[in-house]
Amino acid sequence: MATVDAFNYLKEEATEWRRYLHRNPELGYELRNTARFVAEKLASFGINHIETNIAETGVVALIQGEGGEGPTIALRADMDALPILEASCKPWASESPGKMHGCGHDGHTAMLLGAAKHLASTRCFKGAVALIFQPAEEILPSGALRMIKEGIMERFGITQVFGMHNGPGIEIGKFGICHGPILASLDDFDLVVSGKGGHAAKPNETVDPVVIAAQVIFALQTLVSRRTNPLESLVISITKLNAGTAYNVIPDVVQLGGTVRTYSSHLRDFAEKQILEVARGIARASGGDAELKYRRDCPVTFNNQKATHLAINAANAVVGQDFVNANMSPRMGSEDFAYMLEARPGAFMYIGNGPTAPLHNPAYDFSDEALPFGIGYWVNLVEKTLAV
Ligand code: NI
Repeated sequence: MATVDAFNYLKEEATEWRRYLHRNPELGYELRNTARFVAEKLASFGINHIETNIAETGVVALIQGEGGEGPTIALRADMDALPILEASCKPWASESPGKMHGCGHDGHTAMLLGAAKHLASTRCFKGAVALIFQPAEEILPSGALRMIKEGIMERFGITQVFGMHNGPGIEIGKFGICHGPILASLDDFDLVVSGKGGHAAKPNETVDPVVIAAQVIFALQTLVSRRTNPLESLVISITKLNAGTAYNVIPDVVQLGGTVRTYSSHLRDFAEKQILEVARGIARASGGDAELKYRRDCPVTFNNQKATHLAINAANAVVGQDFVNANMSPRMGSEDFAYMLEARPGAFMYIGNGPTAPLHNPAYDFSDEALPFGIGYWVNLVEKTLAV
């Protein structure tokens, strides 16, 4: 059992890496400098199996344990920043105006580098650990999905995969996780309600899609309030509404857009099917019609039971069980690590970032105090899961 004290020796160096990455944020798949920095550090730790240019700028490194044969587990960090103008006077503030590490992926990268350095020097585990440094968590198409499509799970023989995100509002030195769904799925849809346009003074000679769309918007709310088990979570929000250009013309079509969030895949199927049926039913009853384009952007982030136990045990080893919330409430946000959890069992952990500004806020900053806790979590997870 290695508590956080065993990892404080890496804090100063990891802080330097974190602040270097913070000063030099890059977006999406355009992480040339970040990926080069990561690969150079990994090589300097004596790791000789490093693959770069996966999903353009993704990096995967493999560290073999010295405890004999065993499975390979993967630890994942995301590396991309956000298109936000940073509002911080810190000496390590972004040097690229309009880009900033507003989600703490600089900290995630630094924690995984810290764990890599420790694990590469000790190698007290059987099997191997794959370190996944992923681009494009914040944009579509998803960097996680692309790395999976480029075969990393098979090529590195990965059997389980673990992720971690910082949580503003959770005290530094605390961890939070839950079994099952921890983050929601994210789907978007476009709905076109068509009618028959005409003169606004002669509505009887038209099929008014605006009136139809109004009924559809109300009816869609009943999918959640009247048709979904109240103990299950589903959000259906209409966020876009476009119709017409003139005061005296009834338009031909109304374009609607919206988003669906849920923790269960059967409710995604339900939403996709029912949004169309409700819209079409109402539109056809009035002589119009409806078409739906439904896009599944990100699945539910689902923590596997066994892997979640391993994650809890690793966090307990670092800070003691009083500082690990094993029944954290799931969050309604989403995270493309969900694709990796669809490909392999695993778990997603939250690490406290203290009382900082929220994620994606211009005043946000990753807390360097959290670095040794995150490094300790990764190392314990590997040494316990792959115990010799
Ligand atoms: Ni993030």
